[in-house]
Amino acid sequence: MRWPACGPTRPARGPEAVSATAESTSVIDQVRAYWNRRPCNIRHSTKPVGTREYFDEVEARKYFVEPHIPKFAEFERWRGKKVLEIGCGIGTDSINFARAGADVTVVDLSDESLELCKKRFEVFGLKANFYSGDAEHLSEFVPVEKYDLVYSFGVIHHTPHPEHVFDQIQRYCKPETELRVMLYSKWSWKVFWIIFVYGKGAFWRADELVARYSEAQTGSPVTYSYSFGGVRRLMSEYDMVKISKDHIFPYRIDKYVNYEYEWVWYFRWLPMPVFRWLERRLGWHTLIWARPKTRAS
Ligand SMILES: C[S@@+](CC[C@H](N)C(=O)[O-])C[C@H]1O[C@@H](n2cnc3c(N)ncnc32)[C@H](O)[C@@H]1O
Repeated sequence: MRWPACGPTRPARGPEAVSATAESTSVIDQVRAYWNRRPCNIRHSTKPVGTREYFDEVEARKYFVEPHIPKFAEFERWRGKKVLEIGCGIGTDSINFARAGADVTVVDLSDESLELCKKRFEVFGLKANFYSGDAEHLSEFVPVEKYDLVYSFGVIHHTPHPEHVFDQIQRYCKPETELRVMLYSKWSWKVFWIIFVYGKGAFWRADELVARYSEAQTGSPVTYSYSFGGVRRLMSEYDMVKISKDHIFPYRIDKYVNYEYEWVWYFRWLPMPVFRWLERRLGWHTLIWARPKTRAS
């Protein structure tokens, strides 16, 4: 049994950060190959890939299973604003920013994902600026301009040096720029479940187990997860506006992969307010609203 969504573990910035060695070049190649093999959410529909029906089904399933995303992104709020999305994948959020009237620029390391994202914009007659490359070196391939929103959902924990991405993002920020970022949560139901089920309780193997089992496709080369303290350390160049948790996946995975949505027995009996309470404490998605640090001149 494999987790269906995207996935976690190891903190960066400070002593825990992965060091920048020649080896990291090959790690980023592995990350690119991994997401090229199976772009995120590509199996969210059984319709022919690249058709309007396919993209509509992908979107419906994504926002059905992860209903907190539209609330977090607030697509309508960015009408007429410049949005930079880091790690667009196949573009489910990107297209919604564009539909809402934002001026959208997207970046992804995976060419396969970016091609599908481009196709999606073509199918719906919308425009964006598309860039293929490693966000750790963003300013080497995306013209440096100031954006109103820098958005990244489920991406930066998959790159070998997340701190480099946050350093790069600063160049695209003016004082009023908002950052909305999702990073995986270390203290989450999903991590506990993986340790319990796959590790037979071996919590000291958490990083390894989560890296192996948290994604739909096994073997994600890089997957970190963060405590709130870890997020603050990683994003020390930013002011935190708000940080919260959301998203516990409640469905039976054997049914979910067949597009059926049946809750697992132990969640089925929980009153919804209790389940929501649990999601806020042990959700897999750490949702971060931040701004560049205001500096005294
Ligand atoms: C879990 S998917 C999320 C995609 C999209 N944000 C979504 O929510 O559907 C992670 C994405 O991050 C991209 N990615 C990973 N490391 C990256 C990097 N260093 N630079 C740019 N994109 C990266 C991958 O190619 C992949 O498309």
